[in-house]
Amino acid sequence: MLQRVARSTIVDAPLERVWAVLREFNSHDQWHDVVDTSRIERNERGDQVGCIRAFSLKDGNRIREQLLALDDRTFKSTYCILDATVPLQRYVATITLKRVTDSNRTFWHWESTFATPPGMERELCDMVATQVYEAGFENLRKHLRRGNDLRQGTAESPAMPTAMAVASRRVVLKSYGAPSVLRAENDEVAAPKAGEVRVRQRAIGVNFFDIYLRRGWMPDLLPLPGVLGMEAAGTVLDVGAGVHAVMPGDRVAYIGPTPGAYCSVRSVPADQVLRLPAAVEDDVAAALLLKGITADYLLRDLGRVTRGTRLLVHAAAGGLGLLVCSWAKSLGAEVIGTVSSPEKARVAREYGCDKVIVTTNYQFASEVQNMCGGADVLIDGLGDAARDENFAALARRGHWISVGQATGALKPVATSDLVAKSLTFSRPVVFDYIATRAELVTRAERLWTALSDGTVRKPPIERYALESAELAHERLEQRLTTGALVLTA
Ligand SMILES: NC(=O)c1ccc[n+]([C@@H]2O[C@H](COP(=O)([O-])OP(=O)(O)OC[C@H]3O[C@@H](n4cnc5c(N)ncnc54)[C@H](OP(=O)(O)O)[C@@H]3O)[C@@H](O)[C@H]2O)c1
Repeated sequence: MLQRVARSTIVDAPLERVWAVLREFNSHDQWHDVVDTSRIERNERGDQVGCIRAFSLKDGNRIREQLLALDDRTFKSTYCILDATVPLQRYVATITLKRVTDSNRTFWHWESTFATPPGMERELCDMVATQVYEAGFENLRKHLRRGNDLRQGTAESPAMPTAMAVASRRVVLKSYGAPSVLRAENDEVAAPKAGEVRVRQRAIGVNFFDIYLRRGWMPDLLPLPGVLGMEAAGTVLDVGAGVHAVMPGDRVAYIGPTPGAYCSVRSVPADQVLRLPAAVEDDVAAALLLKGITADYLLRDLGRVTRGTRLLVHAAAGGLGLLVCSWAKSLGAEVIGTVSSPEKARVAREYGCDKVIVTTNYQFASEVQNMCGGADVLIDGLGDAARDENFAALARRGHWISVGQATGALKPVATSDLVAKSLTFSRPVVFDYIATRAELVTRAERLWTALSDGTVRKPPIERYALESAELAHERLEQRLTTGALVLTA
């Protein structure tokens, strides 16, 4: 028969602070007196579901436990014993936290079920209830009173003993240059200020724009040391004064013009934060928010793409490219894409490209002219290497929308370059198309709807651990990726 042990208490500390300690599966040797040393096996993170902690108790016993579930929305963690020198069998435990209404205190419930050898039921139930749970409550209180949870900085970056600071990992850039300048380090994120939301990030969008910043092309936007990243998704940890639109536990995504998203915890202005519909997963939101909103304004506002528009899309199998092709096809456009390989051509076709030109040296104009008589709208993230071909590929009254410069900065376009075919030229930036909260909300909702009703097909998403940002950048700039990329935290 299974035994059940349950204990509850109130801790005189805010829920976020208690949760920040308990959600880390390997924190117990820092606060629970019975635990001697503990480590996570296989170099996994201590909040990775499935990770195993191997620890020894001060009485010499050894235990291996596995994290089975971790939910930042309900503040719940479940784990089980895999093997142990104590005779607890089939032990499964759950920790649940709840905010004590209208106060900065936390309700903590800890319960488990397990089997024991015959005759040891009472002894082991008492042991779990008193030496593990009740002693654990008291030990964690002491740990918090001492502020030990707030002082986990490294020698390089000593932690500030800020009230309610939360430990974070961030990828920081100390010099501009190749992907190898991206280095992960420990950090601490202070409590959100008025008007801010502190987010425990699960997925961070990687954009080609991050590469321009990493290379040092826009030092004013990213002074050193700097953290890249314009968008992410995760769960609200807590909110600053005056924030009412979201609350702790909400699943959210954000996008904003100030870099800094390559980290696991970040505080951002509340007006950049959107609650996510249940159908939109964190990694999808982080991968597609910026690019999807860009596709929306490019097709709808700037390109005014409708049935029959001859649309030329460069890097058609990239993150932005696949969204644009797929959405434009739904609008009835004639979509022509350029890509660098036959495999990318296959993917671009699957996502709505009627015709695909495979080129590695940016030669495409004569093919475009042969295929459709010239492009009415050109969406170009290539930059200078495609400049002359772009002019040649456009139809009379064509519109060249220059969204980026993956091949290098575009030399200035003179009005005399445009006059021959009455061309127009635009150089837009996504943030000007979400300059108001209403625009941001409307565009994001249009994107989620388009993804859910099939108007836009979700691109493939490549996932990398935050610590592997270097690899993600290498692959993106070596043109090895298809679709969008995220870092997972
Ligand atoms: N202005 C805005 O509002 C805005 C917003 C979002 C994105 N963008 C721009 O849109 C473009 C696409 O962004 P993304 O994040 O979705 O990236 P992406 O398209 O997934 O990746 C860039 C693609 O560019 C192509 N490329 C051609 N020459 C390249 C070179 N020399 N080095 C690297 N890549 C090269 C590659 O595709 P092939 O191998 O098929 O050639 C590569 O996969 C970028 O220029 C970005 O800056 C602009």
